[in-house]
Amino acid sequence: MAPISMSGKPQSPHLPFGDRQNAPFYGKDVLSVKQFERADLEYVFAVAHEMREMVARVGTFDLLKGKIMASLFYEPSTRTSSSFTAAMQRLGGCVININEVQYSSVSKGESLPDTVRTLECYADVIVLRHPEVGASALAAEYAEKPVINAGDGIGEHPTQALLDLFTILEELQRVDGLTVTMLGDLKYGRTVHSLARLLSCFNVNINYVAPEILKMPAHIIEELNGNGTEQTQSGDLESVLAQTDVLYVTRVQRERFENPDEYETVKDAYNITPQTMARAKENMILMHPLPRVGEIDMAVDKDPRAAYFRQMEYGLYVRMALLAMVLGKS
Ligand code: ASP
Ligand code: CP
Repeated sequence: MAPISMSGKPQSPHLPFGDRQNAPFYGKDVLSVKQFERADLEYVFAVAHEMREMVARVGTFDLLKGKIMASLFYEPSTRTSSSFTAAMQRLGGCVININEVQYSSVSKGESLPDTVRTLECYADVIVLRHPEVGASALAAEYAEKPVINAGDGIGEHPTQALLDLFTILEELQRVDGLTVTMLGDLKYGRTVHSLARLLSCFNVNINYVAPEILKMPAHIIEELNGNGTEQTQSGDLESVLAQTDVLYVTRVQRERFENPDEYETVKDAYNITPQTMARAKENMILMHPLPRVGEIDMAVDKDPRAAYFRQMEYGLYVRMALLAMVLGKS
């Protein structure tokens, strides 16, 4: 299948891989979705689509042979760390994994700037997850090699937002004209902070549905207002469910609460069940960055509109595309 462009028109089906040191993002950091314009997104998704086809056809190939990725995770991860590792390995590259920083010299008190300057002696690109907002930007200030933000506290998760948008495009073949409803912990959820910003490159309506204490931060709503994006806020899914094309559910982020009692008051705020899905559009999709902890009933998994497992797979292709781009091979 030819890759679908943002406008819904098929694009040139073949993007030959090779040295592309003049390509966008060669040698660059990926820190925020604010770095991406529509043309960049077209490019990333065309490469990701090509990666998907290559994986289906040959599984693994040698585009990044000889390259090394350092994977540095100060916070837990299953999907992001393993899909970046799989992406590098499918492209023939190697990985240095520091997923348990307590066993590294971080536990001796080594700073983030020194840790990244150490890793770049051995690796060509650094993928970093850290609990503090701005940690990736700080790392990038010190590292000469590209740094990819794999989540910085409650700040951003740009590669997740790229894979979320790729999922929407692959599943619904368009982004313009869609109504996207974000549900759950919109205050602490970095995935929705990045996704809302990325969606504002398109002509979309965004509904935010959250408990009062977990509302989308006002500065992000103002930022999107500035782009002319239509946005609504409420605490009630039912008022927007029937119009929703993409329902993006998020986990209430227990680890971000200062007061555990507050978490208890909102932890079960929403639960998507087959009955909820019965009131949704026939051709909508249900997404979740995962992990889920009860906000989507497992009985929903067999609904063809439940896209969250496919969404994880799309993440592999998007991360393959990003690694190839920053390393000058796409
Ligand atoms: N895995 C996503 C993140 O790291 C979402 C979540 O943890 O709920 O931001
Ligand atoms: N979606 C996501 O970032 O998952 P992990 O926290 O498991 O990496």
